[in-house]
Amino acid sequence: MINPKIEQYAEAHTTPESAVLQSLVRETHLKTLAPRMLSGHLQGRFLSLIAKLMQPRRVLEIGTFTGYSALCLTEGVADGGVLYALEGNDELKHIIEKYIEKSGYQDKIKLLIGNALEIIPTLDEFFDLVFIDAGKRDYPQYWDLVVEKTRSGGLILADNVLWSGKIVEEKKNLDTQILDSFNKKVLTDDRVECLLLPLRDGLMMALKK
Ligand SMILES: C[S@@+](CC[C@H](N)C(=O)[O-])C[C@H]1O[C@@H](n2cnc3c(N)ncnc32)[C@H](O)[C@@H]1O
Repeated sequence: MINPKIEQYAEAHTTPESAVLQSLVRETHLKTLAPRMLSGHLQGRFLSLIAKLMQPRRVLEIGTFTGYSALCLTEGVADGGVLYALEGNDELKHIIEKYIEKSGYQDKIKLLIGNALEIIPTLDEFFDLVFIDAGKRDYPQYWDLVVEKTRSGGLILADNVLWSGKIVEEKKNLDTQILDSFNKKVLTDDRVECLLLPLRDGLMMALKK
């Protein structure tokens, strides 16, 4: 979406990924069918920076895929804190676990394999930081499930809200319509202040009042 030359320049002037993250990117390209789902260098450094600024104790990630964004967010998790990584595809479990171990975050990441819509209500936690990045059609439901579980001053992030630019096209398919109504739902929810950041595929940022 962003001009590719600008994106290359931004990446070239952004702290590089760690060797562990680079290796995870390679393995994700070799072993999965949709490696572009992974957050990638620029967004990964953004997630890491936000987490380092917040130093959250409780983080919820909805949609972990091979673990790239989970590792980035965990870079900022406070000592004694935990990131719950929710992933529905159990075939990804071994890759995620391998890279949790390589990164040394075994004590900070709790991987929960299963349907996030069923798992979230069972989590008896208040979150400082939430990253929504699973099935796009479920975004409005994820919102309803997490907003009351997010503390005042906590941050909810939702990825892909510009949906490769389709969000501004007049004719919208079902996924795009749902993402558009999600963006409007966040905007009109007076429990939060929001900013739609046009980073990569669009990142909705909502600060709980
Ligand atoms: C875009 S990928 C996540 C990418 C990851 N956050 C990253 O940046 O590297 C979305 C993931 O959500 C998972 N997913 C989709 N629906 C889910 C659900 N209901 N519960 C848990 N995981 C789900 C998919 O299996 C997929 O791995």
